[in-house]
Amino acid sequence: MSGFVFAEKPIRMEEGNGVYLYDDTGTEYLDAGASYACVPLGHDHAAVQAAVRDQLDRLTYVQASYPVGVRTELYELLAETAPGDVGKTWLCNSGTEANEAALKFARAATDADRTKIIATMQGFHGRTMGALSTTWKEKYKKPYEPLIGDVEFVPYGDSEAMAEAIDDETAAVIVEPIQGEGGINPPTKRFLQTARVHTAQQGAALIFDEVQTGMGRTGTLWAAEWTDVVPDMLTAAKGLGNGLPVGATLCRDWIAEDYGSHASTFSGGPVISAAAKATVETVVDEEVPAHAADVGAYLREELQTTLENARDVRGEGLMVGIEVKRGANRYLKELAVNHQVLALPAGRTVVRLLPPLTLERHHADRIVEAMAEVVG
Ligand SMILES: Cc1ncc(COP(=O)(O)O)c(C=O)c1O
Repeated sequence: MSGFVFAEKPIRMEEGNGVYLYDDTGTEYLDAGASYACVPLGHDHAAVQAAVRDQLDRLTYVQASYPVGVRTELYELLAETAPGDVGKTWLCNSGTEANEAALKFARAATDADRTKIIATMQGFHGRTMGALSTTWKEKYKKPYEPLIGDVEFVPYGDSEAMAEAIDDETAAVIVEPIQGEGGINPPTKRFLQTARVHTAQQGAALIFDEVQTGMGRTGTLWAAEWTDVVPDMLTAAKGLGNGLPVGATLCRDWIAEDYGSHASTFSGGPVISAAAKATVETVVDEEVPAHAADVGAYLREELQTTLENARDVRGEGLMVGIEVKRGANRYLKELAVNHQVLALPAGRTVVRLLPPLTLERHHADRIVEAMAEVVG
C-alpha cells in the first residue's frame, strides 16, 4: 500500500445499493453512517447516477467562467430552497473549502480591522488551515501550528459566553447547528439565536456550518429552518452530491456583493453540479427530510427504551448519538464484524448514526437489535 492518508479498514467494499454496502465476498452491510453522511439518498441512487452519466456524455468540464446550464439551475434551486434570503452560492469540492471560503468572505465583507473569528469548543469545521484554525481538537491542529490566529472559542451552548465574545472586532461566528464530530450535541435554540442577534448588532457575519446537518439530515432540508435563525452564510458539502465531491457556501447579498477575489479551478464543474441538482431535487420532491424526521424519532425512541447501558441517546432527525460507557471504537468493530452494521464514532464515547435518509423502520429495528447485542 503506497497511500498514507487513511488507516484502511480490513473490509474491501465493492458495491453499494440503497442503505447497503457489499464487500468482495458478497457480504451485505447496513451502512448506518451513510459513509459519513455523504449518501443521504442511499448508495448508487438511480436519479443521481443518471444525471451524472448524462452530464458526462454532454460536457464533463469547462472553465468555470463560462456559464453552464446545469450549474445555473443548481444556483437557482439552492436559492429557492435556502433559508430566508441566503440566495447566492459559491461552489467548491468539500466541506473544508466551503468553510474556508466563508471565513474569507466574512473577512472581505466586514471592515478591514475586524480579524476575530468566534468558534465553539468541540466544534469541527475541516482541515485546511483556516477551517482547521476554527476546529477545536488539539490533535488535529498541533502539528500544523501556528494557524491563522485570532480565533476565540466559546463553550457550545453557552449563550452568555457567545453574547460576550461578539464585539466590534468580530468578523464572523462559525457554528454547527448540531455538533457532529464533537459528539452529536444539539444546542438550545436560544444559543443560536443569541449568536444571530449579537452578530447582527455588531455587524459581524454568522456562518452556519451545515456540512453535516444539511440535506435533510435533521428533519428539515437545512437545520437553520428549525432553529428559526437565518444566518449570513450557510455551508454545505457531504450529502450535497450524494457521494460526488461538491461543497457550497450560500451567502446573503451583503456578503456576495463584497466577497473579495476568491476562486477555484473546479468550482461548480458540470458533473458535480448535475449530481447536486439531482440530489437536492430528489430530497425536496420526495419529502426526504420529513421521512428522516419520522424514522429518526422512531429510531431514537427505540434506542432509548431498548438500551440499558447507554448513558444518553440524543440528536435530531437521522443525526443520532449514543453515549456509551466505554470507548466507542470497540463497539463499532463488534457492530461491523458480528452484525454487519457500520456506524461511526463522534469523540471517544459516542456511537454516531448518520444513516441514509431513506432508512425504513425495519432497518432501524435491525440497528437497534445490533446495538442492544453490543452495548446491552
Ligand atoms: C460540520 C463539518 N464541517 C466541515 C467538515 C469538513 O468537511 P470535508 O471533510 O468535506 O472537508 C466536516 C467533516 O466531517 C464536518 O462534519
